[in-house]
Amino acid sequence: MTKKDEKTKKNAPLIGIDIGGSGIKGGIVDLKKGKLVGDRLRVPTPQPATPEAVAAVVAQVVTELSSRPDAPPADSPVGVTFPGIIQHGVVHSAANVDHSWLNMDIDALLTARLRRPVEVINDADAAGLAEARYGAGEGVRGTVLVITLGTGIGSAFIFNGKLVPNAELGHLEIDGFDAESKASAVARERDGLSWAEYSVLLQRYFSHVEFLFSPELFIVGGGISKRADEFLPRMSLRTPIVPAELKNDAGIVGAAIEVALTHKLAK
Ligand code: BGC
Repeated sequence: MTKKDEKTKKNAPLIGIDIGGSGIKGGIVDLKKGKLVGDRLRVPTPQPATPEAVAAVVAQVVTELSSRPDAPPADSPVGVTFPGIIQHGVVHSAANVDHSWLNMDIDALLTARLRRPVEVINDADAAGLAEARYGAGEGVRGTVLVITLGTGIGSAFIFNGKLVPNAELGHLEIDGFDAESKASAVARERDGLSWAEYSVLLQRYFSHVEFLFSPELFIVGGGISKRADEFLPRMSLRTPIVPAELKNDAGIVGAAIEVALTHKLAK
Protein backbone atom coordinates (compact mmCIF):
# COMPACT_ATOMS: atom_id res chain seq x y z
CA MET A 1 0.00 0.00 0.00
CA THR A 2 1.37 3.43 -0.91
CA LYS A 3 1.53 6.30 1.58
CA LYS A 4 -1.35 7.97 -0.27
CA ASP A 5 -3.59 4.85 0.01
CA GLU A 6 -2.80 4.70 3.70
CA LYS A 7 -3.81 8.33 4.13
CA THR A 8 -7.12 7.88 2.32
CA LYS A 9 -7.93 4.95 4.64
CA LYS A 10 -7.70 7.30 7.63
CA ASN A 11 -11.12 8.51 8.69
CA ALA A 12 -12.83 6.24 6.13
CA PRO A 13 -16.36 5.17 7.18
CA LEU A 14 -16.65 2.30 9.66
CA ILE A 15 -19.53 0.31 11.14
CA GLY A 16 -20.60 1.07 14.71
CA ILE A 17 -23.02 -1.07 16.75
CA ASP A 18 -24.70 -0.02 19.99
CA ILE A 19 -25.98 -2.88 22.17
CA GLY A 20 -28.74 -1.64 24.48
CA GLY A 21 -31.28 -3.26 26.75
CA SER A 22 -34.17 -2.76 24.34
CA GLY A 23 -32.53 -2.34 20.94
CA ILE A 24 -29.38 -3.22 19.04
CA LYS A 25 -28.63 -0.30 16.74
CA GLY A 26 -26.07 0.04 14.00
CA GLY A 27 -24.92 2.42 11.36
CA ILE A 28 -22.13 3.30 8.96
CA VAL A 29 -20.21 6.20 10.49
CA ASP A 30 -18.57 8.99 8.56
CA LEU A 31 -15.59 9.70 10.80
CA LYS A 32 -14.86 13.03 9.17
CA LYS A 33 -18.24 14.44 10.20
CA GLY A 34 -19.17 12.21 13.14
CA LYS A 35 -22.47 11.43 11.41
CA LEU A 36 -24.16 8.36 10.01
CA VAL A 37 -24.05 7.64 6.30
CA GLY A 38 -27.58 6.48 5.51
CA ASP A 39 -30.14 5.28 8.01
CA ARG A 40 -29.66 3.81 11.43
CA LEU A 41 -30.73 0.17 11.70
CA ARG A 42 -32.45 -1.07 14.85
CA VAL A 43 -33.41 -4.60 15.84
CA PRO A 44 -35.09 -5.29 19.21
CA THR A 45 -32.72 -6.88 21.72
CA PRO A 46 -33.60 -10.58 22.01
CA GLN A 47 -35.02 -11.67 25.36
CA PRO A 48 -33.37 -13.22 27.25
CA ALA A 49 -30.39 -11.21 26.03
CA THR A 50 -27.89 -14.04 26.30
CA PRO A 51 -24.48 -13.74 24.63
CA GLU A 52 -25.39 -16.15 21.81
CA ALA A 53 -28.71 -14.45 21.06
CA VAL A 54 -27.20 -10.95 21.12
CA ALA A 55 -24.23 -12.03 18.96
CA ALA A 56 -26.68 -13.40 16.37
CA VAL A 57 -28.51 -10.04 16.17
CA VAL A 58 -25.23 -8.11 15.98
CA ALA A 59 -24.22 -10.36 13.07
CA GLN A 60 -27.57 -9.73 11.38
CA VAL A 61 -27.18 -5.94 11.72
CA VAL A 62 -23.57 -6.00 10.45
CA THR A 63 -24.57 -8.19 7.48
CA GLU A 64 -27.38 -5.82 6.53
CA LEU A 65 -25.17 -2.74 6.84
CA SER A 66 -22.40 -4.46 4.85
CA SER A 67 -24.75 -5.05 1.93
CA ARG A 68 -25.25 -1.31 1.42
CA PRO A 69 -23.42 0.29 -1.52
CA ASP A 70 -21.52 2.71 0.73
CA ALA A 71 -20.47 0.03 3.24
CA PRO A 72 -16.81 -0.12 4.31
CA PRO A 73 -14.75 -3.12 3.03
CA ALA A 74 -15.94 -6.51 4.35
CA ASP A 75 -12.74 -7.02 6.35
CA SER A 76 -12.78 -3.62 8.06
CA PRO A 77 -13.05 -3.66 11.85
CA VAL A 78 -16.35 -3.07 13.64
CA GLY A 79 -16.86 -1.07 16.86
CA VAL A 80 -19.41 -2.30 19.39
CA THR A 81 -20.73 -0.83 22.64
CA PHE A 82 -21.91 -2.82 25.66
CA PRO A 83 -23.67 -1.55 28.81
CA GLY A 84 -21.12 -2.86 31.32
CA ILE A 85 -17.44 -2.65 32.27
CA ILE A 86 -15.25 -3.82 29.39
CA GLN A 87 -11.61 -4.48 30.05
CA HIS A 88 -9.40 -6.18 27.45
CA GLY A 89 -12.56 -7.26 25.64
CA VAL A 90 -14.05 -9.01 28.68
CA VAL A 91 -17.34 -8.05 30.40
CA HIS A 92 -16.80 -7.33 34.10
CA SER A 93 -20.21 -6.08 35.20
CA ALA A 94 -23.79 -6.83 34.27
CA ALA A 95 -25.94 -4.43 36.30
CA ASN A 96 -28.73 -4.14 33.72
CA VAL A 97 -28.03 -7.06 31.39
CA ASP A 98 -28.30 -10.85 31.47
CA HIS A 99 -25.91 -12.18 34.10
CA SER A 100 -24.55 -14.82 31.75
CA TRP A 101 -22.46 -11.98 30.25
CA LEU A 102 -20.24 -11.76 33.34
CA ASN A 103 -16.62 -12.66 32.52
CA MET A 104 -17.56 -13.31 28.90
CA ASP A 105 -14.89 -12.42 26.35
CA ILE A 106 -17.31 -10.41 24.19
CA ASP A 107 -14.51 -9.34 21.88
CA ALA A 108 -13.60 -12.97 21.09
CA LEU A 109 -17.27 -13.98 20.80
CA LEU A 110 -18.09 -11.26 18.26
CA THR A 111 -14.79 -11.57 16.38
CA ALA A 112 -15.52 -15.28 15.81
CA ARG A 113 -19.14 -14.61 14.88
CA LEU A 114 -18.51 -11.69 12.49
CA ARG A 115 -15.23 -13.07 11.15
CA ARG A 116 -13.71 -9.59 11.17
CA PRO A 117 -11.86 -7.56 13.82
CA VAL A 118 -14.06 -6.16 16.60
CA GLU A 119 -13.43 -3.63 19.37
CA VAL A 120 -15.85 -3.44 22.27
CA ILE A 121 -16.26 -0.40 24.51
CA ASN A 122 -18.59 0.55 27.37
CA ASP A 123 -21.73 2.30 26.05
CA ALA A 124 -21.29 5.52 28.05
CA ASP A 125 -17.58 5.64 27.16
CA ALA A 126 -18.59 5.48 23.49
CA ALA A 127 -21.11 8.30 23.94
CA GLY A 128 -18.40 10.28 25.73
CA LEU A 129 -15.89 9.82 22.91
CA ALA A 130 -18.51 10.95 20.39
CA GLU A 131 -19.43 14.06 22.39
CA ALA A 132 -15.78 14.94 22.99
CA ARG A 133 -14.94 14.69 19.30
CA TYR A 134 -18.03 15.96 17.52
CA GLY A 135 -20.48 17.21 20.14
CA ALA A 136 -20.88 19.37 23.22
CA GLY A 137 -17.35 18.57 24.48
CA GLU A 138 -15.49 19.41 21.27
CA GLY A 139 -12.33 21.37 22.03
CA VAL A 140 -12.92 21.51 25.80
CA ARG A 141 -9.69 21.12 27.81
CA GLY A 142 -9.53 19.57 31.26
CA THR A 143 -12.07 17.15 32.68
CA VAL A 144 -15.40 16.63 30.91
CA LEU A 145 -17.88 14.22 32.46
CA VAL A 146 -20.54 12.76 30.22
CA ILE A 147 -23.36 11.28 32.28
CA THR A 148 -26.01 9.19 30.49
CA LEU A 149 -29.40 8.83 32.12
CA GLY A 150 -31.24 5.75 30.86
CA THR A 151 -32.01 2.32 32.30
CA GLY A 152 -28.94 2.89 34.46
CA ILE A 153 -26.56 5.82 34.83
CA GLY A 154 -23.51 5.62 32.62
CA SER A 155 -20.48 7.87 32.73
CA ALA A 156 -17.50 8.81 30.60
CA PHE A 157 -14.46 10.56 32.02
CA ILE A 158 -12.73 12.64 29.35
CA PHE A 159 -9.53 14.55 29.99
CA ASN A 160 -8.16 16.87 27.30
CA GLY A 161 -10.27 15.00 24.75
CA LYS A 162 -8.97 11.57 25.79
CA LEU A 163 -11.10 8.91 27.45
CA VAL A 164 -10.22 7.45 30.84
CA PRO A 165 -12.26 4.24 30.42
CA ASN A 166 -14.70 2.48 32.73
CA ALA A 167 -15.53 5.23 35.21
CA GLU A 168 -18.65 3.72 36.78
CA LEU A 169 -20.04 6.88 38.35
CA GLY A 170 -23.61 5.61 38.10
CA HIS A 171 -22.82 3.27 40.95
CA LEU A 172 -21.66 5.89 43.44
CA GLU A 173 -23.43 5.29 46.73
CA ILE A 174 -25.51 8.33 47.62
CA ASP A 175 -27.64 8.50 50.78
CA GLY A 176 -27.25 4.73 51.17
CA PHE A 177 -28.38 3.85 47.64
CA ASP A 178 -26.68 2.93 44.41
CA ALA A 179 -27.17 6.26 42.56
CA GLU A 180 -28.63 4.74 39.40
CA SER A 181 -31.30 2.88 41.36
CA LYS A 182 -32.87 6.26 42.26
CA ALA A 183 -31.74 8.81 39.69
CA SER A 184 -31.74 7.03 36.31
CA ALA A 185 -34.38 7.96 33.73
CA VAL A 186 -36.05 4.58 34.21
CA ALA A 187 -36.14 5.10 38.01
CA ARG A 188 -37.93 8.43 37.42
CA GLU A 189 -40.62 6.67 35.38
CA ARG A 190 -40.84 3.71 37.76
CA ASP A 191 -41.29 6.04 40.75
CA GLY A 192 -43.71 8.35 38.91
CA LEU A 193 -41.63 11.45 39.72
CA SER A 194 -42.48 14.91 38.41
CA TRP A 195 -39.65 16.82 36.75
CA ALA A 196 -39.37 18.98 39.89
CA GLU A 197 -39.01 15.89 42.10
CA TYR A 198 -36.56 14.27 39.73
CA SER A 199 -34.48 17.45 39.54
CA VAL A 200 -33.92 17.27 43.30
CA LEU A 201 -32.40 13.80 42.90
CA LEU A 202 -30.28 14.93 39.95
CA GLN A 203 -29.11 17.98 41.90
CA ARG A 204 -27.96 15.71 44.74
CA TYR A 205 -26.22 13.39 42.31
CA PHE A 206 -24.48 16.02 40.18
CA SER A 207 -23.40 18.07 43.23
CA HIS A 208 -21.70 15.01 44.63
CA VAL A 209 -19.93 14.18 41.37
CA GLU A 210 -18.93 17.85 41.03
CA PHE A 211 -17.46 17.81 44.53
CA LEU A 212 -15.43 14.67 43.72
CA PHE A 213 -14.04 15.70 40.32
CA SER A 214 -14.45 19.47 39.76
CA PRO A 215 -15.00 19.00 36.02
CA GLU A 216 -14.97 21.83 33.48
CA LEU A 217 -18.19 20.61 31.92
CA PHE A 218 -21.02 18.12 32.46
CA ILE A 219 -22.75 16.69 29.39
CA VAL A 220 -26.04 14.88 29.98
CA GLY A 221 -26.82 12.07 27.54
CA GLY A 222 -29.39 9.32 27.13
CA GLY A 223 -32.86 9.61 25.60
CA ILE A 224 -33.93 11.94 28.42
CA SER A 225 -31.50 14.61 27.20
CA LYS A 226 -34.22 15.54 24.67
CA ARG A 227 -36.21 16.79 27.68
CA ALA A 228 -33.24 18.65 29.21
CA ASP A 229 -35.34 21.84 29.40
CA GLU A 230 -37.46 20.14 32.06
CA PHE A 231 -34.63 19.53 34.51
CA LEU A 232 -31.41 21.43 33.70
CA PRO A 233 -32.87 24.90 34.49
CA ARG A 234 -33.94 23.63 37.92
CA MET A 235 -30.39 22.63 38.86
CA SER A 236 -27.68 24.79 40.34
CA LEU A 237 -24.03 23.82 39.98
CA ARG A 238 -20.81 25.75 39.58
CA THR A 239 -19.99 23.56 36.56
CA PRO A 240 -21.72 24.29 33.24
CA ILE A 241 -24.14 21.45 32.40
CA VAL A 242 -25.46 20.94 28.86
CA PRO A 243 -27.41 18.27 26.94
CA ALA A 244 -25.55 15.88 24.65
CA GLU A 245 -25.61 16.87 20.99
CA LEU A 246 -25.39 13.52 19.23
CA LYS A 247 -28.61 12.14 20.74
CA ASN A 248 -29.50 8.63 19.51
CA ASP A 249 -26.39 8.15 17.43
CA ALA A 250 -23.75 8.87 20.09
CA GLY A 251 -23.14 5.18 20.90
CA ILE A 252 -22.83 4.12 17.27
CA VAL A 253 -20.51 7.02 16.44
CA GLY A 254 -18.43 6.42 19.60
CA ALA A 255 -18.07 2.72 18.80
CA ALA A 256 -16.69 3.63 15.37
CA ILE A 257 -14.28 6.19 16.90
CA GLU A 258 -12.97 3.58 19.33
CA VAL A 259 -12.31 1.02 16.62
CA ALA A 260 -10.73 3.68 14.38
CA LEU A 261 -8.41 4.82 17.18
CA THR A 262 -7.43 1.28 18.16
CA HIS A 263 -6.69 0.29 14.57
CA LYS A 264 -4.97 3.60 13.86
CA LEU A 265 -7.58 4.49 11.24
CA ALA A 266 -8.17 7.91 12.80
CA LYS A 267 -6.21 10.37 14.89
C1 BGC B 1 -23.47 0.09 33.93
C2 BGC B 1 -22.56 0.91 33.06
C3 BGC B 1 -23.33 1.44 31.86
C4 BGC B 1 -24.57 2.18 32.33
C5 BGC B 1 -25.41 2.69 31.18
C6 BGC B 1 -24.68 0.90 34.32
O1 BGC B 1 -25.53 0.13 35.10
O2 BGC B 1 -22.80 -0.32 35.12
O3 BGC B 1 -21.46 0.14 32.64
O4 BGC B 1 -22.50 2.28 31.13
O5 BGC B 1 -25.37 1.35 33.15
O6 BGC B 1 -25.85 1.65 30.37
